Amino acid sequence: MKAILLVGGFGTRLRPLTLNTPKAVVPIFDRPFLHYQLDLLEQLPEIDEVILSLNYQPDAIERVAGDRRGNGPRIRYLVEPRPLGTGGAVKFAEPYLDDTVVVFNGDVLAGIDLRAVVDLHRSRGARATIVLTPVDNPSAYGLVETDAAGNVRAFREKPDPDEITCDTINAGIYVLEPGTFDRIPPGTKYSIERRYFPSLVERGETFVAYVERGYWIDIGTAAKYMQVHRDVMGGRCAAHPFAGRADNEPLVDTSAAVDRGVRIEAPCFVGAGARVAAGAAILANSVVGASAAVETEAVIDGAILWPDSAVGAGATVRDAIVGRGARVEAGAVVGPGSVLGDDSVVTAFSKV
Ligand code: GTP
Repeated sequence: MKAILLVGGFGTRLRPLTLNTPKAVVPIFDRPFLHYQLDLLEQLPEIDEVILSLNYQPDAIERVAGDRRGNGPRIRYLVEPRPLGTGGAVKFAEPYLDDTVVVFNGDVLAGIDLRAVVDLHRSRGARATIVLTPVDNPSAYGLVETDAAGNVRAFREKPDPDEITCDTINAGIYVLEPGTFDRIPPGTKYSIERRYFPSLVERGETFVAYVERGYWIDIGTAAKYMQVHRDVMGGRCAAHPFAGRADNEPLVDTSAAVDRGVRIEAPCFVGAGARVAAGAAILANSVVGASAAVETEAVIDGAILWPDSAVGAGATVRDAIVGRGARVEAGAVVGPGSVLGDDSVVTAFSKV
């Protein structure tokens, strides 16, 4: 069995973080996001190959996908000549598929039982199975209506308010039969959500829904990207590196240098080679990335510092994201919702 991870998108909503780092490999604590998806796929040992469907900055993804340890499935890199959209990307991978394929949007993380999804797909003899998740505000997503038997009946991408009749949305995780790809024209931009799924409904093919009520998030915006860190640190999402920890202590890499006299609140994460000077405060829900530096009297409060960034003496970074190699100089204040791109500089005593 094979899996396709759709990781070719531009990730525009997550700019500026995605200008140099494709969404699939943005760091989550100390690992690229993609590794969390590969963890999920380990539930299905019959998957012997994962196809990474690439377009935007493929080299950046190839560099980090390959450095995963262990005897996981083979990884095949398929680079589209131009963006083909989610459906076109699946069609592009068709020559490498044999039978049933698991497809993931490259920006979702879920506490899902993939075995149960595949079992449902097979027991129903489905041509396609889609995972659905309930959300509070379905209008921003693809709304999916089902009947009492769990068949998909309507597929509405980004519905108008009067079209909202249920709260289940497309979770971006599918099990598909390649025999259904006949309707996707090769080499053409084509959306799996807007065209392929509605076409299955129109043609009355067995198209089954699996509703997952456990943890689910897509990390497509800065707010969601921050949220996934909080959910892992807070135990709402069981994932590396916090899953299975018995204590509720700050998680500090053994190679980090945290001076005595630092105020450090759980939950938080301090990565490899990071340096935190005496008098600084790392408050709850903060992440200090690898080799980042926090100087004396600086306050990191619910913020995420990417690797190699630096926060100067007396500066405050609250509920914000500081990109790779960015510098917040002494006494500056970076406030809630700010996202600083890689290598940016907030000069001393500035307020953002
Ligand atoms: P935004 O620009 O912020 O909307 O992000 P995005 O480009 O990632 O688009 P979206 O979140 O809608 O895409 C869902 C998933 O499909 C993501 O994991 C994308 O990487 C992937 N994707 C989107 N378009 C393409 C494409 O043309 N080719 C491939 N291979 N993957 C794509």
